[in-house]
Amino acid sequence: MNGERGAWAGRLGFILAAAGSAVGLGNLWKFPYLAYKAGGEAEWHGAGAFVFVYLLAVALVCIPVMIAEIMIGRRGRRNPVGAFRVLRPGSKWPLVGYLGVLTGSLILAYYSVVAGWTVEYIYKAAIAEFSRYEVEVTDEEVRRRVCEEAKVKPETKDCDRKYEEFLSSHKDPEDLARALKEKRLEIYPDRLFHAFLASPVKQVGFLFVFMAITAAIVLGGVSSGIERWSRILMPLLYVMLLGLVVRVATLPGGLKALDSLFVPDFSRLDLDLLLLALGQAFFSLSLGMGAMLTYGSYLSPKERISSSAFAIAGLDTLVALMAAFVIFGAISSYGLSIRGAGIGNLFTAVPVIFLHMPGGTFLTIVFYVLAAFAALTSTVSLLEVASAYLIDEHRISRPRAVILAASVIFALGVPCALSFNLLSDFKVLGLTCFDIFDYTTSNLALPAGGILISLFAGWMLRREEQIEELFEVPGWAVSLWRFSVRFVAPLAIFAVLVGLLLGRVVG
Ligand code: PHE
Repeated sequence: MNGERGAWAGRLGFILAAAGSAVGLGNLWKFPYLAYKAGGEAEWHGAGAFVFVYLLAVALVCIPVMIAEIMIGRRGRRNPVGAFRVLRPGSKWPLVGYLGVLTGSLILAYYSVVAGWTVEYIYKAAIAEFSRYEVEVTDEEVRRRVCEEAKVKPETKDCDRKYEEFLSSHKDPEDLARALKEKRLEIYPDRLFHAFLASPVKQVGFLFVFMAITAAIVLGGVSSGIERWSRILMPLLYVMLLGLVVRVATLPGGLKALDSLFVPDFSRLDLDLLLLALGQAFFSLSLGMGAMLTYGSYLSPKERISSSAFAIAGLDTLVALMAAFVIFGAISSYGLSIRGAGIGNLFTAVPVIFLHMPGGTFLTIVFYVLAAFAALTSTVSLLEVASAYLIDEHRISRPRAVILAASVIFALGVPCALSFNLLSDFKVLGLTCFDIFDYTTSNLALPAGGILISLFAGWMLRREEQIEELFEVPGWAVSLWRFSVRFVAPLAIFAVLVGLLLGRVVG
């Protein structure tokens, strides 16, 4: 069976594919959006605390776990379920693999919704929809905004009263005109984004498009298509981001983003923020659900795991920081106000930057093509996990496995796509379906998977096996890694998870 399994062309192929899995919407969309949300929108000082914890989590927890995950994959030479089964026959460990397959499928379901947004945005950019910066809203919308700020429901009598109060609080007509004007302005790309979210047909349609493209690539086998394109398009994405960093750094007020991102205000640090940053680190590095394990299963025993893990984590973190700098810089420099706690940052702030640049339309198209591609290299790795499981464990042919997995995951994605429109009021514990998929996977399942993966590598693999896998590093480094996967990483994650649960119960 091993003979039939694919293999990477070389170490670079593995690093590129693994970095392709890691670098995606987690970096471009989610990291800046979570940092923005953690920062408390207005001054964003909390963003610094989030970034700080995130970097610590990557260095102390995620890199050791990544080494563990690749190691298990390479020794097991199978999908996540099979790898644990082969390495510890008859034990309960394969359950970790099942958890991973399930988690990966849930992530893919909601992730593909956002990935679909990037496709729509290529089109929006191509028809030059972002030709304006600000637009005025109707009086009705102004009333809604006044009430929203005062936290009263728009359809109530209270809202009428609030609106009256607002109007009468500005005695001077000129003063009133100014206050109304301020409320009336809207960032045009922000309006476009929310109009797009409100369309159930478009949301489900683009989800379908993205799932179909992902399935087509996984059907054809990962190595030839995706690996070849990754070599060209991923470096292009880094270059483009670097260009944007330079551009934003030279905008008036753009450098303020550095303060928000890198000067931590530790008073904002709480367990929620710790879990958010830890969960995001796992998500961004594709850890805790078997994606790295599966990619590791195609890695030759001659290649070095440790330096690959550092390269992947370094690249991923750099992209996340660059994206956050660009988006924060644009928000502060252009004074953008973005609705909905920043979920649309990537789709609102970026077009505004390009709008003010020569050749902006073309650059906007290129940017969203690259973003869509970054998303695709991640969705492919997610679908590959579920497919590899079906192929290896249930002996289903690749085409059948891929179509079956993609169809089920598409069906799971539909309620996520409708979370922004038809099902927006359908909430459990205040969370929409989209939020539930996001929260439970990133903040619960991935860290829990991380604990189990590190415990397995630390306690179940024998020392000789670990040394064999990490042949390239000196003995003390193996011991250090072993200590972190046996104790540091699992205990740190466990402490945050349990602390949060207890906090919820007691508080
Ligand atoms: N790491 C990917 C990103 O940041 C998302 C992902 C998570 C991919 C888990 C695979 C597994 O976009």
